[in-house]
Amino acid sequence: MSGTVTERPARLRAGVVGFGWAGQQHMDAYALHPDVELVAIAGLEDGPRATLGERYGLPEAGLFRGYQEMIDAARLDVISIATPTALHAPVALAALAAGVHVLSEKPLAESVDRASAMVGAAKAADRVLDVSFNHRRRGDVKMLKQVIDDGLLGEIYYAKAGWLRRSGIPGLGTWFTQKSLAGGGPMMDIGVHMLDMALHLMGEPTAEAVSAATYAEFGPRGRGGSSGAKVGARADGTGAYEVEDLSTAFVRLSGGATLLLEASWASYIERDQLYVVLYGSEGGAVLGSPEAWNLPQLSVLTELKGFPAELTPVLPADGNHAEAVDDFVAKVRSSSWADQHGEHLLTRSTIVEAAYRSAEQHREVVIDQP
Ligand SMILES: NC(=O)c1ccc[n+]([C@@H]2O[C@H](COP(=O)([O-])OP(=O)(O)OC[C@H]3O[C@@H](n4cnc5c(N)ncnc54)[C@H](O)[C@@H]3O)[C@@H](O)[C@H]2O)c1
Repeated sequence: MSGTVTERPARLRAGVVGFGWAGQQHMDAYALHPDVELVAIAGLEDGPRATLGERYGLPEAGLFRGYQEMIDAARLDVISIATPTALHAPVALAALAAGVHVLSEKPLAESVDRASAMVGAAKAADRVLDVSFNHRRRGDVKMLKQVIDDGLLGEIYYAKAGWLRRSGIPGLGTWFTQKSLAGGGPMMDIGVHMLDMALHLMGEPTAEAVSAATYAEFGPRGRGGSSGAKVGARADGTGAYEVEDLSTAFVRLSGGATLLLEASWASYIERDQLYVVLYGSEGGAVLGSPEAWNLPQLSVLTELKGFPAELTPVLPADGNHAEAVDDFVAKVRSSSWADQHGEHLLTRSTIVEAAYRSAEQHREVVIDQP
């Protein structure tokens, strides 16, 4: 009998560092992916290590405390990093040095220096470096990107993007509110999702200057915590609170476009909001629902035969972390990684860092162009 036998490539061996909500999203996505085998997890907590090991059917040899032990022992092809932000760079550098492709949680790192070191290491090792920006996989964002790519908005010259919470500081006194571990407050945590969305939708412009302000009106007084406050919050509601709880930034982008960005973990507003508003030469768009921050909704403002018109496109399903992991796996499976070293991710780090510097110095910060 003649015929061609196509060999299926071996499944990628995946490891995940971090047992929190974010780490579990990556574990779920790898466990369900047909081209991937989740072989190892690492994290400091004994209880979750055992429970998650059981949930994903991992043997004792696949359960680790520290990330370095896992990288040394588990023969990984890919790793997801879902640790406190200040550990993203050390874990990524260790993994890349061992030839492992890296998918980091957002933000890439807490500083431009560390983010650049990660990109440099990905280049040197020629491995994929990516960030799982799950919110850009919302149905409304994906549809808006198609609308823009089809030219319906023309040239986008101004954008507003924000994520504001009524009471959503993620754990007073945990690593999220400590500068050395988190790097910053809501701008670093959720503002970076909105920045990613805006830059993605606007065609990846670079940044020229940032003028920003930050405020800490809730956290230092033990107010504004999320209902799911984590272990580490103190009984009296106070704790180490070293970051802002609201930031606002005005960003000048290449080509003359501008972006107004706001991010807040706590503020006296009616309800949580997530929005993007785009102003284009041929049309506009409003993304996000006034009813609920996590409800995808999109209006495209345009003209039909000279009449003002509003389109509400049918939205595809949300992709969430599963789609971010799918995209990462597809990049790893592609034949060339030369464009996958995460260079474009640096614009996000540059803008966030410039925003904090601007707020500290009370002036616009001009970004050096390469
Ligand atoms: N994309 C999203 O929607 C989203 C949502 C929440 C958090 N995040 C990001 O995910 C990351 C983790 O957030 P989280 O809320 O899951 O945090 P978390 O505090 O719940 O979990 C952090 C985990 O890191 C582990 N860890 C810390 N130091 C370690 C070390 N040296 N070696 C091994 N493991 C170590 C801890 O043991 C813990 O399991 C952060 O970067 C955060 O910004 C993203």
